[in-house]
Amino acid sequence: MGTLRDLQYALQEKIEELRQRDALIDELELELDQKDELIQKLQNELDKYRSVIRPATQQAQQQSAGTLQGEQRTKRQAISAEPTAFDIQDLSHVTLPFYPKSPQSKELIKEAILDNDFMKNLELSQIQEIVDCMYPVEYGKDSCIIKEGDVGSLVYVMEDGKVEVTKEGVKLCTMGPGKVFGELAILYNCTRTATVKTLVNVKLWAIDRQCFQTIMMRTGLIKHTEYMEFLKSVPTFQSLPEEILSKLADVLEETHYENGEYIIRQGARGDTFFIISKGKVNVTREDSPSEDPVFLRTLGKGDWFGEKALQGWELYASDLFYINIFL
Ligand code: CMP
Repeated sequence: MGTLRDLQYALQEKIEELRQRDALIDELELELDQKDELIQKLQNELDKYRSVIRPATQQAQQQSAGTLQGEQRTKRQAISAEPTAFDIQDLSHVTLPFYPKSPQSKELIKEAILDNDFMKNLELSQIQEIVDCMYPVEYGKDSCIIKEGDVGSLVYVMEDGKVEVTKEGVKLCTMGPGKVFGELAILYNCTRTATVKTLVNVKLWAIDRQCFQTIMMRTGLIKHTEYMEFLKSVPTFQSLPEEILSKLADVLEETHYENGEYIIRQGARGDTFFIISKGKVNVTREDSPSEDPVFLRTLGKGDWFGEKALQGWELYASDLFYINIFL
């Protein structure tokens, strides 16, 4: 009797063990599915990058061969790489179209842009302008919205529906609401890198290349003008020729540091040159780890640091000021 009870008990234990294993297997399978999904997503992103690397490289070669103006800005060409004959005056007069939309649609477009690797670094003001300019487009089931190899003229955000992306006949992915597509041909000035077909009826928002380019260039040119003015206000740079200042303005990037934050640490490898546009920084040097750092000087607006001579010095934002740096 005792033996039978023992056997029943052992059986129960085994059943429980099996149940736990099944639960673990389910959990692991779910994790595996999620990882597969992530791999697929990353693979798609990689494919997208790969499909624009070649055209971008070709463009760089064209530039160095002089097919584009020598002084064309290089940094901002990473996005919207088209040569332009416009200047700020031309662009400031361009009136962009405005299409009213619901707050939900505005949010959807904004979030779609922020979710897109190639567009998420746009400034919020640019995203706002894109949102305003987008107009509604609808396609029925089984329509071809974008054909691989074509010259592209529109960037889309999907509001509703589902599309399939294929390249050379191979399915890359499907996309649902809240996704941007058709951005690569416009951003990188290349032909369409894939085909996009509808799987159901879809509602889209679209912006044309010209509006898109205007938004991109206008912000770039406004910033360039601002940076030129700033550089001209710095005594050290005032006497530099206009074209050198312009090249400097091309590569300037604005960086903000909190009060008390270190900008350069003594001993760290320095590869950045800073010009202070607002605020103050303290320069200190640590002669020995056991001693307090020695205060050397305070730098302010128009001062610069980060060139070789300053390597090995330590800088931190002073207690009194919030600093704003152009590098
Ligand atoms: P574009 O090249 O202008 O037109 C086809 C679009 O398909 C492309 O922009 C991207 O938006 C999208 N696309 C291209 N390759 C991929 C990919 N590997 N995964 C997801 N979307 C892609």
